Amino acid sequence: MFIINAPVEKVIELDNNIFLLKIHCPQISTIIKPGQFLNIRVSETIYPLLRRPFSVCDVEGEYFYIMFNVLGEGTKILAEKHLGDTIDVLGPLGNGFNFTGSYDTAIIVGGGLGAAPFPYLIRAIGNQKKVYSFIGGKTYKDVITHGIKNISIATDDGSLGFKGTVVELLKDNLDLLNSGNIKIFACGPNAMLRTLKEFSINNNFECEVSTECAMACGFGICQGCPIESTEKSDKYLLVCKDGPVFNVKDVVI
Ligand SMILES: Cc1cc2nc3c(=O)[nH]c(=O)nc-3n(C[C@H](O)[C@H](O)[C@H](O)COP(=O)(O)OP(=O)(O)OC[C@H]3O[C@@H](n4cnc5c(N)ncnc54)[C@H](O)[C@@H]3O)c2cc1C
Ligand code: FES
Repeated sequence: MFIINAPVEKVIELDNNIFLLKIHCPQISTIIKPGQFLNIRVSETIYPLLRRPFSVCDVEGEYFYIMFNVLGEGTKILAEKHLGDTIDVLGPLGNGFNFTGSYDTAIIVGGGLGAAPFPYLIRAIGNQKKVYSFIGGKTYKDVITHGIKNISIATDDGSLGFKGTVVELLKDNLDLLNSGNIKIFACGPNAMLRTLKEFSINNNFECEVSTECAMACGFGICQGCPIESTEKSDKYLLVCKDGPVFNVKDVVI
């Protein structure tokens, strides 16, 4: 784990107020795994005090990318960064996706900004497995497809693709899912992960989910990011240290 004052290479604005921040940081870029995250101090001033966690979105040689939209003060400051600015990055943090293994088809499921970790995961899987992606949003404005391949889209209001939730779209594609040995990788709002958990358990599909919660330290010291475990012996796990990626059966969402 490193703490590095890393130079900003550029900020790229995609559609719908989504930003990609490209950071030059060879120490982290060369070792970080898909699904791991960075805890970023967005400003050199005391405010905002806490670091902000972001999944690694992609890696290109000595550079890594994060993807975000402007929610509050931290992401507003990040969106205004320029070439020559630096940001204080702590990482790599967390466990990451377990994408090796005996499955032959990866099913990517992303809701809204939950699509952020998948460009790097898909790049890392490469041609070793087939990849199908199911991306959802409330409306077409919330659908993020950057860096994602073989995409089927669902929107709650039907403004783009299938009308309904992304899990309903998966149910609609059960034949495809049952035609191979699949593993589901998901990230998105808790409501989506909850219904996906039920769907994957009912159909006996292996499923890993990347979870989110408010964080402070990012590496297991403050105990501020508990998630309930389904194992009685281990009542709570820490999202930052034991996750953020979990086998969906292991956690209460
Ligand atoms: C492991 C992990 C990985 C993450 N990866 C990404 C990523 O790749 N891209 C990305 O955009 N965001 C990601 N997030 C969420 C991100 O950390 C927050 O969006 C960010 O901290 C917001 O900072 P802010 O100062 O702009 O907003 P704040 O001022 O802190 O919050 C503004 C508003 O957003 C709400 N909010 C804050 N965090 C979240 C959250 N996690 N989910 C829903 N609402 C929230 C607050 O309740 C508040 O209403 C991740 C979070 C975790 C824990
Ligand atoms: S954020 Fe401090 S223990 Fe997880």
